Amino acid sequence: MTFDAPTPSVPAAPPAAGTATVTAAAGAVDAVKIYGKDDSEVRALDGVTVAFESGRFTAIMGPSGSGKSTLMHCLAGLDTLTSGGVYIGNTYLSTLNDKQLTELRRTEVGFIFQAYNLVPTLTALENITLPLLLGGTKGDQQWIDQVIDTVGLRSRLKHRPSELSGGQQQRVAVARALASRPTIIFADEPTGNLDSRTGAEILDFMRRAVRELGQTIVMVTHDPVAASYADRVVFLADGRIVDEMHAPTAERVLDRMKHFGE
Ligand SMILES: Nc1ncnc2c1ncn2[C@@H]1O[C@H](COP(=O)(O)OP(=O)(O)OP(=O)(O)O)[C@@H](O)[C@H]1O
Ligand SMILES: [Mg+2]
Repeated sequence: MTFDAPTPSVPAAPPAAGTATVTAAAGAVDAVKIYGKDDSEVRALDGVTVAFESGRFTAIMGPSGSGKSTLMHCLAGLDTLTSGGVYIGNTYLSTLNDKQLTELRRTEVGFIFQAYNLVPTLTALENITLPLLLGGTKGDQQWIDQVIDTVGLRSRLKHRPSELSGGQQQRVAVARALASRPTIIFADEPTGNLDSRTGAEILDFMRRAVRELGQTIVMVTHDPVAASYADRVVFLADGRIVDEMHAPTAERVLDRMKHFGE
């Protein structure tokens, strides 16, 4: 997709240390988000600069209220910053008009939420391809087949959400996010309401989507075990990035979290 975006007025984000050959799929530069006014003012994001490398699985962790969802919503163009910039690929979202932003969200961004947000009257397959149909395209059939096999839904395609387990429903949501082959997928606590075995399954699918299909995923989680599936963990506190960890283990993440008082 090409937009004739003017040169961004914010500087390009520097690549993370040691990853100079990896390009960023998305990122934020000096991102500030203030909710409310005067006495009730909340600085949900207080100068966040971060880059999410292409083809990597990144987890975002931090205490409740630290700005994780706000950062993800702003990155995905669902909410706007007070100052600073966010970009997807080479495009700063602030350079887009509403129509271009909608188009970018539809083609470049996938979402997975805690609640699966499936349409109850549609089959699993229809749910997976719905965003494509709404965009007036059938998508790449070979890719969709690969996604369906990767998430293990081949035998469940004709089932409606009520006929699927929670884990299967979340797999449909994962497949739906993958179907358009977006530049980046944002997942906000995707395993939050699943039992640990089903959650592990979903995390495994997401990791396979990154390793085998080359997807880029950014996931918010409270769970150190979930974070250990990622290639990198970024820690937020009070709207700022306070630390990051590469090749995380659940133990190291848990140890780091103890310093947040969580
Ligand atoms: N629409 C809003 N209006 C006013 N304040 C908001 C709004 N959305 C979020 N906030 C505030 O911004 C801060 C960051 O919220 P955010 O939802 O990003 O936190 P979070 O890290 O996702 O927390 P959790 O782990 O509980 O989901 C919080 O103090 C929250 O109360
Ligand atoms: Mg949140």
